Amino acid sequence: MTKRYVVRPETAVLTRGFDPKLSVGSARPAVFRSSTYVFSSPESAARAFDIALGRAKPTPDESVDLIYSRLSHPNAEILEDQLVPLERDATEAAVFNSGMAAISSIFLTFCPPGSGVVHTTPLYGGTQLFLDAMLTPLGVRFGVADAGDGKALGATIARMKGLKVVFLESPANPTLRMTDIAAVVEAAHAHPDRPLVVVDNTFLGPAFQHPLSLGVDLVVYSATKYLNGFSDLLGGVVLARDRELITQLRSTRALLGNILQPDECWLLNTRLPTVALRMNKQSKNAQRIAEALQGHPALERVIYPSLFTEPDQVRIRNAQCDHPGGIITLELKGGRPAAFSFLRRIRIAHNAVSLGGVESLACHPRTTTHSEMSPEQLDHAGISEGMVRLSIGIESCNDLLTDFRGGLDGL
Ligand SMILES: Cc1ncc(COP(=O)(O)O)c(C=O)c1O
Repeated sequence: MTKRYVVRPETAVLTRGFDPKLSVGSARPAVFRSSTYVFSSPESAARAFDIALGRAKPTPDESVDLIYSRLSHPNAEILEDQLVPLERDATEAAVFNSGMAAISSIFLTFCPPGSGVVHTTPLYGGTQLFLDAMLTPLGVRFGVADAGDGKALGATIARMKGLKVVFLESPANPTLRMTDIAAVVEAAHAHPDRPLVVVDNTFLGPAFQHPLSLGVDLVVYSATKYLNGFSDLLGGVVLARDRELITQLRSTRALLGNILQPDECWLLNTRLPTVALRMNKQSKNAQRIAEALQGHPALERVIYPSLFTEPDQVRIRNAQCDHPGGIITLELKGGRPAAFSFLRRIRIAHNAVSLGGVESLACHPRTTTHSEMSPEQLDHAGISEGMVRLSIGIESCNDLLTDFRGGLDGL
């Protein structure tokens, strides 16, 4: 019998889920672009369909034939296996062709028409628009609480009837307000409907925040961001402790046809072993830059987790985040004109949406990523005219600091 070692995540991400024998000995996985798969026998085909359609469950060591790549394909299976060790307490993952595909599939799977959803605000603009434009017409009802307001969130959860999903973004995009994940889990577990708790962990995970360990049911990512890290593909990931939840999501994925394609899976696969290395460097860079920019006369304030002063935000940060992460939000004095001048003047960081890449990016959330929100919603969420979101890359932090100071000086 071969001895099995229990290895750490940084080893598992390189050794799990891939058998070179299935790729003619290639040390890295091949790309399997086939849209359909040849069955080993008609009986195996029938068995594969029984399992895919939920009429039968595979036995623990059963090798089930692949069917058709809208359902799954070898590169998705390899990627899903290698994602699992990166997320503490995960047992299963499902990959999607964007973060929005992952998020929308969660809601479409677990929120039938007429059900209740509680979420924090602000949310990424695309998520908010999906809830408003696609779920409201299905009669889904919403309870909304400000990110970080544990009391309001607890009361909103307790009040909601037919509650199916509690959805959190922590830290919130772009205000970086943190929500006490463990407290939300407690409130959800006390609810008679036992809703699923879902955390969008795009900003700090998988390296610095571990929601499944805090009792969360599903963790979702825009893999377009830190997981990939090179701003050259779109992807989404959902991870869970309970395999059954991922099985249900895969059924939705097969119907919607939003699985991540083989080439993208292969590419994302090559980026996983460096996620922690990149995120650590980005967080170190961001912390030095945020702390150096604080107090600059052109700035109203610098929002960054290591600079939090509100006692409850400090408590939440200390309890649930290992490091502050690579996103800094600046509030410039002088509103939109000052923010736009800053974006025109910086030379290293590009003025682009998205985040988490090795190159630094800067954007004006109020007119771009969050422009779907009404002026009242934006004001309420604290997404001001003078706000600029910085995604810090792995460049020299001294060069970046010179660039940002050049953008701010004399504004
Ligand atoms: C926090 C967060 N969640 C989800 C998404 C959506 O991801 P995608 O663009 O991969 O669909 C984004 C995109 O910016 C995001 O910032």
